[in-house]
Amino acid sequence: MPRVFSGIQPTGSLHLGNLLGAVRNWTEGQHRADSFFCIVDLHALTVPKRPGEVGDATLELAQVLLACGLDPEVCTLFVQSHVHQHGELAWLLQCVTAMGELRRMTQFKDKSEGKDFVSAGLFTYPALQAADILLYDTDSVPVGEDQRQHIELTRDVAERFNHRYGDTFVLPTATVPAAGARVMDLQEPTNKMSKSAGSDTGTVGLTEDLASVAKKFKRAVTDSDGEVRYDPAAKPGVSNLLSILAASTGGEPAELAEEYSQYGPLKSDTADAVVALLEPVQERFGELRADPAETARLLRVGAEKARSVAVDVMARARANIGLLPLT
Ligand code: TRP
Repeated sequence: MPRVFSGIQPTGSLHLGNLLGAVRNWTEGQHRADSFFCIVDLHALTVPKRPGEVGDATLELAQVLLACGLDPEVCTLFVQSHVHQHGELAWLLQCVTAMGELRRMTQFKDKSEGKDFVSAGLFTYPALQAADILLYDTDSVPVGEDQRQHIELTRDVAERFNHRYGDTFVLPTATVPAAGARVMDLQEPTNKMSKSAGSDTGTVGLTEDLASVAKKFKRAVTDSDGEVRYDPAAKPGVSNLLSILAASTGGEPAELAEEYSQYGPLKSDTADAVVALLEPVQERFGELRADPAETARLLRVGAEKARSVAVDVMARARANIGLLPLT
């Protein structure tokens, strides 16, 4: 089976767009590959955080991911800082990464622009990400389009290391899922649903009260021509509802459009479909919230599985560089 690795930052709560995009990709993908899913808490520290903030968000994200269907019997779900090799390998990789390469990263430019404090960690972030991936002899990395550049850098750095020190790392490839529903804001349907940039009434949280979820769909922005048709450019609001309905029920947006002649029923069916999708997730989430020791146990098992792979790759990197072994 191919080895798959992906990471997600514990920053704020997840929304419906995350579930129908990335998270669903993971839950479905876990059966087709030897999958490692990592909550990258060290990456979250690249921007200032309150004491306790990252730990709380990490626990909650683990519980959301488990509630959404990541199965610790099938995949390896773990927390980045629980496996010390991530920080250790990141240093070695920083030493084979050029400043110029890091300067070209568009995510760094976006995240640093206009900020009065820019950490060195934000700049070297891609080297830590490369360590995440390379520590597991990863074949493929499922990520959004915005991460492609970081995976390319990971390959370049791995190749340079292999060239300098001898064959050490597997070269990974980015797999950007073609399908994965692109969920837009319910109030501003030309913008992606986003917890930071989006409107509150346009964003549906995974752990949000279901009555409030239904209300948001009934108030979703459509348009004034009254025709139900799948046409994201001309009819972004209606098309968004159709793609959410399709992603929630397993249909095709354009085919579903033919079943409706009015916006009202489309809105209420989409609301019902999303509520039905979220109900079991929220139930399981509630159980996990009530028993944090069980989540901690699952994360310990995940960290042990991850570590068993990471120690070998780390040892290979140290040996190939020729660091003096501790004997
Ligand atoms: N940089 C990724 C993001 O912002 C998160 C991430 C960290 C990641 N390490 C990773 C993704 C390794 C894939 C593989 O979304």
